[in-house]
Amino acid sequence: MPEIIEPFRIKVVEPIRMTTRDERERLLGDAGYNVFQLRADDVLIDLLTDSGTSAMSADQWGALMRGDEAYAGSRSFFRFRDVVRDLTGFEHVIPTHQGRAAERILFSTVCSPGDLVPNNTHFDTTRANVEATGAQAVDLPAPHGLVPSEPHPFKGDMDVAALERLIDEKGAARIPLVMVTVTNNTGGGQPVSMANLRAVSEVCRRHGIPLYLDACRFAENAWFIKSREDGWADTPVKEIARAMFDLADGCTMSAKKDGLANIGGFVATHDAALARQEENLLILTEGFPTYGGLAGRDLEAIATGLEEVVHEDYLAYRVASVRYLGEHLAREGVPIMQPPGGHAVYLDAAAFLDPMPRTDLPGQALTAELYLAGGIRGVEIGTVMFGRTDPESGQEVPSRMELVRLAIPRRVYTESQIKYVIDVILEVWDRRSAIGGYRIVEQAPVLRHFTARFEPLT
Ligand code: F0G
Repeated sequence: MPEIIEPFRIKVVEPIRMTTRDERERLLGDAGYNVFQLRADDVLIDLLTDSGTSAMSADQWGALMRGDEAYAGSRSFFRFRDVVRDLTGFEHVIPTHQGRAAERILFSTVCSPGDLVPNNTHFDTTRANVEATGAQAVDLPAPHGLVPSEPHPFKGDMDVAALERLIDEKGAARIPLVMVTVTNNTGGGQPVSMANLRAVSEVCRRHGIPLYLDACRFAENAWFIKSREDGWADTPVKEIARAMFDLADGCTMSAKKDGLANIGGFVATHDAALARQEENLLILTEGFPTYGGLAGRDLEAIATGLEEVVHEDYLAYRVASVRYLGEHLAREGVPIMQPPGGHAVYLDAAAFLDPMPRTDLPGQALTAELYLAGGIRGVEIGTVMFGRTDPESGQEVPSRMELVRLAIPRRVYTESQIKYVIDVILEVWDRRSAIGGYRIVEQAPVLRHFTARFEPLT
């Protein structure tokens, strides 16, 4: 059996442009060696993110034409709402323009200054939206999720004992909700087991605290439960997803991931009174509750995407193609976070470029080299993104890990393109000792990774 078969034919193609190393040297230099500053047209294989980059199906493109653009009571809203209700069981469904808008609406409705919001690991916009309300975002990852080389099947789990301790110490009254991110983006989309979700849900119910899923990659998580957790092998993924949502009281969703759409999201809940409050806030910034900042056609594309994403041929292919990339690299000794997750492979740049000092920015150096070597764009998740300047010494404090994320867009690249990515990385691996570091020559005070300019040290 082949490792991967794409369960689709390609009807529309988008040319991508091969460039020479000389051209890429010039383009990257002009971009200040920051891949965020490149034009996408100058990238051959773009693995910057899996968010909003999915290829839509013929059915989704067909659905766009059925979009009802009525301001209020659009037919497309009702179709969208019914698909989300059928999938999640949540009665109240509020569309938003993307995931972070859903987060802002949820947290600014339920959080107050001094509150605490536990999560297995907050995504950065989720953390920022919690903290914007004056509440504190608390990450409680399970200990087995924190060892990069440990191939545990459910590295996204929450530390249930730590959750109980937090509730005992701080009191349930200060915790307006608990959130579990499926899959856990930090670490490359590591799944959360049903057993862990059930245990978290039981703690929350015992203390009367609502449990929310950050459901961006719920279908990939459900697939991992089916393929890795005892007792689920014969259950359809859609039913597994429903069992996950049944353990929660609501969810936020970025439809740019497992919605297979290029834009959109929603917040959903069983709680009618909360939904009314959220809708009032929605009207202020996003739009009327039957479109929430989206066009009617977007609602149609998301509805169809949510129906397609639980198809098991698709999920088998999806997870196999990410695993294929990770395993072929690991087999040759390339250090990656293990095991490969649902949507991304993380290269361990500190180990890859060992003994480069952390102050020479190994994550940035590897990201730049992947572009120079093969026109591949990944993203540094290391000192450039998370390092900080010590206020006393003025010295740069490196982040805990130096990673380069290769996120795989859904249904976009073929197996031969992934093979090309493997070949380029192995070629860079072979001459790793000749790769030099970088220094920052210009940076913004916050979120510097998007706009910083760098200079090669050699
Ligand atoms: N939650 C998680 C777990 C995410 O990964 C993201 C986005 C969001 C929330 C926010 O959703 O972008 O629609 O507002 N992650 C993207 C990424 C940006 O590249 O991982 P959004």
